[in-house]
Amino acid sequence: MKIIIGNDHASPDMKKELVKYLEGLGHEVVNFGVDTSESCNYPEIGEKVGRAVAAGEADCGVLICGTGVGISLAANKVKGVRAAVCSETTTARFVKQHNNANIIAFGSRIVGIETAKDIVKAYLEAEFEGGRHQTRVDMIHAIEDRQ
Ligand code: RB5
Repeated sequence: MKIIIGNDHASPDMKKELVKYLEGLGHEVVNFGVDTSESCNYPEIGEKVGRAVAAGEADCGVLICGTGVGISLAANKVKGVRAAVCSETTTARFVKQHNNANIIAFGSRIVGIETAKDIVKAYLEAEFEGGRHQTRVDMIHAIEDRQ
């Protein structure tokens, strides 16, 4: 898969580890994040990754900030994005199976690197179940159209 990864200054080390891990699994990873701990603004990175994923430039995205919340909130403002914050693998699996999340997010101050790897793996290996879940995903995007 082609995966776009983005992170803020809270998470360059976790991002670098995950890039290595994902490439080791055979994925192509494009880095839209920062590589140092110099302060930056997570909304810019969330929006950039969100726009690219929504435009179909990758199969999915991975976002990391301190909590995973701010950067995913920003990405979710982009039409077509379904970014889900996960701190464990069960949620990571369900956000693909039921919500067809196109971005997975987590916090480098919340989960350790091994849990982060497990979260991404669970998400990537899961498959969207469609059917009634597609109807509900369509309903989510209909909210965007009513704005
Ligand atoms: C940066 O200090 C921090 O606010 C950010 O990484 C994130 O946790 C925001 O939601």
